[in-house]
Amino acid sequence: MVDVKLISSASSKERTMKNENSESVARKLVAAGKGILAADESLPTIEKRLKSIDVASMEENRRAYREVLFTTAGLGEFISGVILFDETIRQKTRDGRTFVEALEQQAVIPGIKVDKGAKPMANFPGEKITEGLDGLREQLAEYRQLGARFAKWRAVIGIGEKIPTQRCIETNAELLARYAALSQEADLVPIVEPEVLMDGAHTIERHFEVTGQTLQIVFHALAEYRVALEAILLKPNMVLSGKDCPHQASVQEVAEATLRCMKRVVPAAVPGLVFLSGGQTDLQATEHLNAMNRLDRVPWELSFSFGRALQAPVLKVWKGDPTNVADAQRAFHHRAWCNSKARFGKYTEEMETKKAVA
Ligand code: 13P
Repeated sequence: MVDVKLISSASSKERTMKNENSESVARKLVAAGKGILAADESLPTIEKRLKSIDVASMEENRRAYREVLFTTAGLGEFISGVILFDETIRQKTRDGRTFVEALEQQAVIPGIKVDKGAKPMANFPGEKITEGLDGLREQLAEYRQLGARFAKWRAVIGIGEKIPTQRCIETNAELLARYAALSQEADLVPIVEPEVLMDGAHTIERHFEVTGQTLQIVFHALAEYRVALEAILLKPNMVLSGKDCPHQASVQEVAEATLRCMKRVVPAAVPGLVFLSGGQTDLQATEHLNAMNRLDRVPWELSFSFGRALQAPVLKVWKGDPTNVADAQRAFHHRAWCNSKARFGKYTEEMETKKAVA
């Protein structure tokens, strides 16, 4: 007969070791003055971004654009990790290094988006469920082999008349928890991203309420699925007025509401909150992060995992033209520097026109 006790004690030791390793990766991702670049746009999303600068979404153009980002000199000063997309983790720089190698050479940790996108939820008009659990165990093992050290899964919760429903939040939370458990099994740090959208005319109070409710359900699911909170990062939305709300909350109000909400529901064991930008302008996202880091002490690092808010200025300058690469990289380095300052609460508007200095 197989000795069950032996097997379970060996696997629990292995689990403990893996967790220690992952805990240190999670802490490195939220190291002082650094944050994450989300460059994991799926094919339809990157097509939209490239179209905005009149560049066709061909594989070579997507590769060239990502190369601009990943080969920016000094990237590792302000960026701790980059989230890649399935296509991107397999691509190379023009000089033949895999993107994973190019990032590692800058001391940047490679990560990978593993969900398959938010799809309409049957019978729940206006709500979405994130897909991607089928075959995920095998896929995570492959990504780990390719050099990824962390993963990301995004759930989307919308606000509207009669939504979100409890069912939608609970199902998304369960999926996030199952993904997080599988990621930890594969020795990858899961970034848990339940995004409550800012689209709509709702007030900041409503966004506060739905964000709190969502996070509470997500942490309940994570506990039920035995996810080690020390080895995850939470990627939450900031608490904002809806985009079309006639009264827009001030920077200070956003910072206070966001931290008040997080303090109620996010356990202190989580090493860091890496906020998404979610459609804010690059300046707004930086200002909000800065204001949060100036408020009272919290148990977690308050950092960023911005997509649009880091990339918008780069796209604008690059425009698909190789002669603009150096300027585009300067724009990226500058934006990352501003966000790095915001991590210390030391960002000022004057920095927008200044050169980045450490
Ligand atoms: P935004 O900062 O553009 O919201 O993107 C972050 C991200 O990774 C969304 O999943």
